Amino acid sequence: PVEVKKIVCIGAGYVGGPTCSVIAFKCPHIQVTIVDLNQARIDAWNDPDFNLPIYEPGLVDVVKACRGRNLFFSTEVDKGIAEADLIFVSVNTPTKKSGLGAGFAADLNYIELATRRIAEVSTSSKIVVEKSTVPCRTAESMRTILEANAKPGCNFDILSNPEFLAEGTAIDDLFAPDRVLIGSLQSASGKSACESLANVYANWIPRDRILTVGLWSSELSKLAANAMLAQRISSVNALSAVCEATGANIDEVAYAIGKDSRLGPKFLKASVGFGGSCFQKDILNLVYLCESLHLPAVAKYWHAVVEMNEHQKDRFSKKVVDTMFNTITGKKIAVLGFAFKKDTGDTRESAAITLVNHFRAERAHVSIYDPEVTESTIMLDLTNYGEISAESVQKNVKVAKTAEAACCGSNAVVIATEWDEFKTLDWQKIYDSMDKPAFVFDGRLILDREALIKIGFKVTTIGTGAI
Ligand code: NAD
Ligand code: UDX
Repeated sequence: PVEVKKIVCIGAGYVGGPTCSVIAFKCPHIQVTIVDLNQARIDAWNDPDFNLPIYEPGLVDVVKACRGRNLFFSTEVDKGIAEADLIFVSVNTPTKKSGLGAGFAADLNYIELATRRIAEVSTSSKIVVEKSTVPCRTAESMRTILEANAKPGCNFDILSNPEFLAEGTAIDDLFAPDRVLIGSLQSASGKSACESLANVYANWIPRDRILTVGLWSSELSKLAANAMLAQRISSVNALSAVCEATGANIDEVAYAIGKDSRLGPKFLKASVGFGGSCFQKDILNLVYLCESLHLPAVAKYWHAVVEMNEHQKDRFSKKVVDTMFNTITGKKIAVLGFAFKKDTGDTRESAAITLVNHFRAERAHVSIYDPEVTESTIMLDLTNYGEISAESVQKNVKVAKTAEAACCGSNAVVIATEWDEFKTLDWQKIYDSMDKPAFVFDGRLILDREALIKIGFKVTTIGTGAI
C-alpha cells in the first residue's frame, strides 16, 4: 500500500473540518490541507483568534495544536488536489429541490463537480475517498468520471469511508469512534488503497475497530445506520403520544425497555422531533433508492419514520395551542433553544424552526434564545433564506440575549433544545416575571416537572400524562 503523506479534504464543513483536523492532530507526520470554495468559511478556519466557523466542543484546541504545523485551510482547491496522495471528498449532498427525485433524492452535483476537478488537475495517481453521505453505487459514477477524464498514467482508487460523528460530540466521536468503516473494490489495487487509508486511522484507532467491507455495503451502511437511529427516535416519539393519552411516562418506559440488552439504553429520548442535516435527508435518500429499485413497500416503511417525525412536531405545536385555551394569538411565547440539539450552533432541520413557524401562523409573539445560534442564522431560517420578507418575520419574532430576557413578560416557555443551562435557570424568578397563568412546555424532558408545578407553573411535558 501507498504510504499517505499528504491529504487534501474538499469541503471545510461540519464533517470535513473536524474530521481532517483530528487526522492532522493524531498524525503529525501527515500534511493535511482542507480546501473549500467558500472564502468566508476558510477565513474563519484561519481566524487569528480562533473564531472558527462551527461550534463544536474541543475543536478549537485541536485546531490550535496543529494549524500552521501540518494542518492548513485554503481556497486553493486545485493546488490541494494536485499535491495530495489521498483526497477526501466531503462536500454537501443536500436533498434535491427540483427535477427528478425532487424532495427525496440526494443532489450529487457538488460531488460530481469535485470529482471532475480531481480528474482535471491530477497529474499523479490518487486515492479518492467518499466521505460525504451518498446513495449506494455513487462510487461507480465517480470512477467513470475519473477514468473518462484522467491524464495518462494517473490511476484512481475509490474508497467509501462514511462519517458517523454526531454534532456536539464530534471530537470525542473522532478520537474514539465505535468503528471506522472503509469500503473498497475487492481488486488487488482496491484492497491496497483500503490498507493505505486504514494505516492512517491506525495511528490512533485500534485495528479491530477499523472495518473493511465492499464499496456498496459501505455506502449503504451509512444510510442504514442513520435510518435505524432515526427510526428509534420516531418509535419512542410515537410511544410518547400513547404515554400522554394513558398517563404512562415515556422516560420510565424508555428506561424499562432500554434495560433489555438487545435494545440498549441509548437514543431513546423522546423529543419535539429529530432535526439535523442528516436523518431526514438520508432517509429520504434511502426511500428514493428503494423506489428506484422497485421496492415500494420498503420505501413506504422507511418513509413512515419521517412522517412520524413531522407528526411529532405538529402534535407538540397543537398541544401548546390547545393547552393555552385554544388560542395563542397575541400571546408571547418564549422559545428556549433553536439549535437542532445541544452543544452545536447548527440549526439545519431544527424542530424549533417548525415550532416557531406554527406559532407565527397563529399570530403569537415569539421570543427566541439560544446560547450558540446567532440572530442572523435564526432570521435566515425563519425567512427561509430570503423567501419571506425579514420585516414580516421581525413583526412577531424577537431574539433575546438571555433565557431570562426571552421569558420576561411571556405567557409560555417552550423548551425546544436540551441545552444544560436551561436546567439550572432560576425558574422562580422566571415565573415571577411572566404573565399568569404561566405555562411551560418541555419538549425535551429536561426540567424538574414537580419543582415547576410547586412554583406555580402549568407544565406540559412530552410523553407524560396529567398527574
Ligand atoms: P457542509 O455544507 O457543512 O460542508 C460542505 C462544504 O463543501 C461547504 O463548505 C461547501 O462550500 C464545500 N464545497 C461544495 N462543493 C465544493 C467543491 N466543488 N470544492 C470545494 N468545496 C466545495 O456539509 P457537512 O455537514 O460537512 O456534510 C458534508 C457531507 O457529510 C454530507 O454528505 C453529509 O451528509 C455528510 N455527513 C454529515 C454529518 C454531519 O453531522 N453534519 C455527519 C456525517 C456525514
Ligand atoms: C446523526 C448520527 O447520530 C451520526 O452518527 C451521523 O453521522 C450524522 O447524523 P447528528 O444529526 O449530528 O448525528 O446528531 P444526533 O445526536 O444523532 O441527533 C439527531 C437528532 O435526534 C437531534 O435533533 C436530537 O435532538 C434528536 N434525538 C437524538 C432525539 O430526539 N432523541 C434521542 O434519543 C437522540
